[in-house]
Amino acid sequence: MILITGGAGYIGSHTNKLFVQNGYKTVILDNLIYGHQENVVGGIFIRGDISNVKLLDKIFSDYPIDAVIHFAAFAYVGESVREPAKYYENNVSNTILLLNAMVRHGVKKLIFSSTCATYGIPEKVPIVEEELQNPINAYGASKWMIERIIKDYASAYGISYCVFRYFNAAGADPDCEIGEWHIPETHIIPILLDVAIGRREHFDIYGTDYDTADGTCIRDYIHVWDLADAHLRAYEYLPKGKSVFMNLGTMEGISILQLIDVVKRVTGKEIRTINEKRRQGDPPKLIGSMEKAEQILGWKPVNSNIETIILHAWNWHKKLFERQVKLK
Ligand SMILES: NC(=O)c1ccc[n+]([C@@H]2O[C@H](COP(=O)([O-])OP(=O)(O)OC[C@H]3O[C@@H](n4cnc5c(N)ncnc54)[C@H](O)[C@@H]3O)[C@@H](O)[C@H]2O)c1
Repeated sequence: MILITGGAGYIGSHTNKLFVQNGYKTVILDNLIYGHQENVVGGIFIRGDISNVKLLDKIFSDYPIDAVIHFAAFAYVGESVREPAKYYENNVSNTILLLNAMVRHGVKKLIFSSTCATYGIPEKVPIVEEELQNPINAYGASKWMIERIIKDYASAYGISYCVFRYFNAAGADPDCEIGEWHIPETHIIPILLDVAIGRREHFDIYGTDYDTADGTCIRDYIHVWDLADAHLRAYEYLPKGKSVFMNLGTMEGISILQLIDVVKRVTGKEIRTINEKRRQGDPPKLIGSMEKAEQILGWKPVNSNIETIILHAWNWHKKLFERQVKLK
């Protein structure tokens, strides 16, 4: 049985769905600060916080948990700069409480959500795992610290781990049952889709003078279903393989202007844009290597073609929007 923390959130809920579809039993622990219980399709849902040590002990005693997939975290970069305490407390201190509970209960497998934000501004793209990690905000630093803590816990307490550094998670469940639902929404694709659907008037492009072909930032978008698939592969790999840190990227990047064109094409809607100044701390290009994940897990991002990502995201966005309009 697998404990999925943050399993009512975006990536966690898709991963839970894929594990359940593959016949695995899951327990989902989420405090619903950002998650949505409706997105937990299958598994046993427990509303609670990973900082609740008594609750963790109860879960590990009540269920035969053999692995933890740890998504629960705060992940708003801008907020992490304004309120670092919140990030170090939830992402670092609370993760230590979770790791301690794993040690107490002899749970030896961990899959952890890290981020390309641990690299800061990379020297070279595609970024390989050996690239210097030099995070430039408290969010990235909090994940980088946990990576280090996991490594030490693993060697002292015999935990095997797979730490994934995701690039930009995007898209939605291909069956359109669940999808991205962040409140507040800061991710670029749902914001563009909000413009397409008429909920926002325009889209702000932050920086048109970067050293890229069209002057806008380049990012690597990875379909959430491909991310979920990597977790499934990692769970099946861990009993026999060595602990590992790996990127989940696609080796390809697209610029903001290119992305807007795809959104226009797929939705058939106009997207009004306003050019704004660069935001501090936005690296010009983030593209992730996927060679290690392919070599070790046999993983390939099969849904991460940008048209497919936008189509799945758009189908879900329309469904969520209709639901929200009905509820008003
Ligand atoms: N979305 C991305 O592009 C991206 C990229 C890189 C890394 N990540 C990492 O992946 C993970 C999942 O990201 P997401 O986009 O699904 O975020 P999300 O906010 O949708 O999901 C996180 C979930 O964790 C829950 N949570 C937070 N703190 C908790 C706590 N103390 N106890 C119990 N539940 C708690 C929230 O309610 C939420 O449901 C995060 O760790 C994030 O840092 C995400």
